[in-house]
Amino acid sequence: MASFFSAGLNETIKGYLGRYETKRSSILPILHAIQDENDWISPEAVQALEAEHGLSVIDVNEVLSFYTMYRKAPPKPYRLEVCGSISCWLNGADKTISDAKSYIAQAEKSGQSVPFECHKVECLGVCGYAPVALVNKDRYLNVTPELARKLIDDYSKKELPAAAKKCAADLAARAAQK
Ligand code: FES
Repeated sequence: MASFFSAGLNETIKGYLGRYETKRSSILPILHAIQDENDWISPEAVQALEAEHGLSVIDVNEVLSFYTMYRKAPPKPYRLEVCGSISCWLNGADKTISDAKSYIAQAEKSGQSVPFECHKVECLGVCGYAPVALVNKDRYLNVTPELARKLIDDYSKKELPAAAKKCAADLAARAAQK
């Protein structure tokens, strides 16, 4: 029977399962690997972890619901994640977040398709350069509202990341099955 996961991802999952004393201990890195490849963690992926790798659906869902960094719904291709913790908040992160959200909303209102969503996240660990933001895994320091707008414009012109393309294809295939 064909695996739900790609060959490479299956190898990665097996590697993590063999690295820790209990299967449960490997859930965090396995979920990261799935999210890196698929852009989110679908209910089907959770079921396949149990069917193909013996990881309990209950255990996996407990981890998924606890940690906010795992995406439980298909995301847009790019995520602007702005730290809203104390140093960044004191240096204007809230203004950057609200400005970026309204920039995206206005563009969509005028009929443009913007491959971006914006979220507030917890401390990103480089508080001396507040406000700090990520675009997917790329880190940016001293992020002003102007820089956030530029990042949205610049990334929107790039080719979509492979994980986003896979995510879109999976969703289209799922819709076609309904
Ligand atoms: S408070 Fe924003 S990076 Fe630490």
